[in-house]
Amino acid sequence: MTTTSVETFSQKNVLLNGEWRENENGNRITLASPSNGKEIGSVPALTEKEVNEAVEAANTAQKEWAKTALHERKQLLFRWADNLVENKEVIGSMIMQEVAKKKSSAIDEVVRTADFIRHTAEEGLRLTGDLLTGDSYNGGPASKTAQVSRVPLGVVLAISPFNYPLNLSASKIAPALMTGNGVVFKPATQGSLSGIMMIEALEQAGLPEGLVNITTGRGSEIGDVLVTHKGIDQISFTGGSETGVSMSQKAGMVPLVLELGGKDPAIVLEDADLDKAAKEITGGAFSYSGQRCTAIKRVLVKEEAADELVAKLKEKVEALAVGQPEDDADITPLINEKSADNVESMIEEALDQGAELISGNERQGNLLAPTLLDKVTTDSRVAWEEPFGPVLPIIRVKGEEEAIQIANESEYGLQASVFTQDINAAHRIADQLEVGSVQLNGKTSRGPDHFPFLGVKNSGLGVQGVRYSLLSLSREKVKVLNE
Ligand code: NAP
Ligand code: G3P
Repeated sequence: MTTTSVETFSQKNVLLNGEWRENENGNRITLASPSNGKEIGSVPALTEKEVNEAVEAANTAQKEWAKTALHERKQLLFRWADNLVENKEVIGSMIMQEVAKKKSSAIDEVVRTADFIRHTAEEGLRLTGDLLTGDSYNGGPASKTAQVSRVPLGVVLAISPFNYPLNLSASKIAPALMTGNGVVFKPATQGSLSGIMMIEALEQAGLPEGLVNITTGRGSEIGDVLVTHKGIDQISFTGGSETGVSMSQKAGMVPLVLELGGKDPAIVLEDADLDKAAKEITGGAFSYSGQRCTAIKRVLVKEEAADELVAKLKEKVEALAVGQPEDDADITPLINEKSADNVESMIEEALDQGAELISGNERQGNLLAPTLLDKVTTDSRVAWEEPFGPVLPIIRVKGEEEAIQIANESEYGLQASVFTQDINAAHRIADQLEVGSVQLNGKTSRGPDHFPFLGVKNSGLGVQGVRYSLLSLSREKVKVLNE
């Protein structure tokens, strides 16, 4: 495992057809730290010809891999996980530098990814099939028996976002490999150095040549070539809704799993434990500076509880450490200036429309102070759009009906939180929310990673989560025995 020190400039190449290679024309993308603009490394910008080579190599290697025993696949994944943990500090430091994630969270992501990989390997051993007898159907013949097994789809295109450069890449690659597929891996450009280090660990674990191929390059330049390639048999994408929806229209008959944007509401009733609600909402809204799809991105609070909740939220928000990822600050610089500009514009618009500034609204470069806005109206962009930054709008509602109506009016449907001590009210509201998952008295979040994770409406298509990913990256194969 090359333990590149991240203090040096990391000139990385791609694993293509079993070799670590530069690209043919020498074009490279230089990556800078979002925190301080320092150049930290570069990756090749692949050409269409190299993308074709990657897909072809994955198809060739997959044929042999599909015959590999399940326990051998499991052993490869376990060695991969061990290599990641062994190098968690150096890989965590790269994540920290590349996407400005606080150091402890960056290292935690490496360990979480290793846990995910091991759980996937173990669960993959138990992807049993079915055996159906014809006479179990009314009038069916006993002479027919159906043997149903699971087989790989072929080559999986794994496209990942910047905010979890390891976890949301391995969450596609590990189940793809465990079910016998080949992989073409397109990391987010800002996250590709970390993603390449993850694959270095996989190759060191004994990855068969050509089975996983890295295609770095701007999604806007090579994305369509990848998504429409005839050698791709499944697309597993995590990223923005606009990107994902456009992709779904180009992919044709290729099965897709899309994990997209969110605008998760926290609904707070007047009987809620407000100390617990304030703690959960603060963590849910502001961890990794709000750059999580599952971040709480609006609070819908009953009028009667609003003043007390806002006071508690103010106290917690103002206790958040704002600074640099290497200092383990809670709030760190956003991924780029464009993102910071977008968040700032939403805050300014809401204030112009009469929202009350409770805390924050300060900026130094890409570093924005955690911002709490009260009495936000549904006329404001921040009530509906995904800021992907440290801003939390409070919308006051008259009752649960209004809260449900505003929650469901969103184009998104990822998760929601409901805070109340009335378990009947919690279930009543949860049953009416048009989302993938509802957290009862807890912050919205994906983990633990074996839970099903899905979005509806513009938040996604299909389901992730260990077993669900294994199923979506494989298919049934039926043999009917006729006596
Ligand atoms: P993004 O801009 O949509 O990019 C996601 C990935 O898609 C990147 O690898 C990107 O490559 C690639 N891409 C861009 N254009 C493409 C195209 N035309 N064809 C194929 N691939 C293309 O998203 P992001 O900024 O990385 O992540 C933030 C967004 O992702 C937020 O909306 C967040 O809610 C969402 N997200 C959702 C989840 C979830 O599980 N639901 C998790 C994390 C993030 P480049 O980097 O080269 O542009
Ligand atoms: O945005 C990434 C998504 O997977 C969130 O994960 O565990 O932070 O809720 P988590």
